[in-house]
Amino acid sequence: MKKIIIGNWKMNPPTLKEAEQLFSVLAKGASSSKKTEIVICPPFVYLEKLSKIRTSKIKLGAQDAFYEEVGAFTGEISGEMLDNLRVKYVILGHSERRALGETNEMVNQKIKAVLAAGLIPILCVGETARDESHDYFNLVKIQLEECLAGVKKTFISKIIIAYEPVWAISTTPNRKDATSADSLEMAIFFKKILSDKFGREASRGRIIYGGSVSGKDAGDFLQNGGVDGLLPGRASLDAKKFVEIIKICEVLSK
Ligand code: PGA
Repeated sequence: MKKIIIGNWKMNPPTLKEAEQLFSVLAKGASSSKKTEIVICPPFVYLEKLSKIRTSKIKLGAQDAFYEEVGAFTGEISGEMLDNLRVKYVILGHSERRALGETNEMVNQKIKAVLAAGLIPILCVGETARDESHDYFNLVKIQLEECLAGVKKTFISKIIIAYEPVWAISTTPNRKDATSADSLEMAIFFKKILSDKFGREASRGRIIYGGSVSGKDAGDFLQNGGVDGLLPGRASLDAKKFVEIIKICEVLSK
């Protein structure tokens, strides 16, 4: 299975011109990659223009999608609309959206809608803080179980699960670095929950890590963190840094 590097641009950059420039430089930097799947998730408004920039290496993802197919839902975007733009991936349940009120139930509906539209969901789960009694394990278990409730066994291997400890994300005040050991422990825990729920099919899915990933620790997470890919936010806005992460992944995939 190919490793995957997914850049989450969040609400950046401010202009289309900057988005096109950044994407073009990334496409050039990624042009020699062979073993890594590369995805960029820009804001919705840039997707159409970026889909016209020629690159065989970078696929496009969105940062959200609504759970209804069509109708009176002001401000929302459907999976079918994204599919029509040749978008392949959709980040769902990111902690920044959960902080705005998104619940596990909503993420669950979105996952089903995105799968029905033929897209690949990137489900983000992770605790906001770690406590000494290790309650956070229970919290991520609930997130996983509620977000994946009713998902058919045949679909589980399509879903990418991103472990994103909120306390390690670059914009979290007083953030701390997560280690590859934190990631490994959680990846093993996820695999157990998924195989209990979905059986053997679950082992064919990918688990990735996100939270201040940079060129400094990308190799460590990929080698020792029990994951099949990375979800950098801030580093994906700097072409040099993002390409460095891709190159590290290429070397480790040999
Ligand atoms: P970060 O963002 O790399 O800037 O911490 C990761 C994310 O929130 O997806």
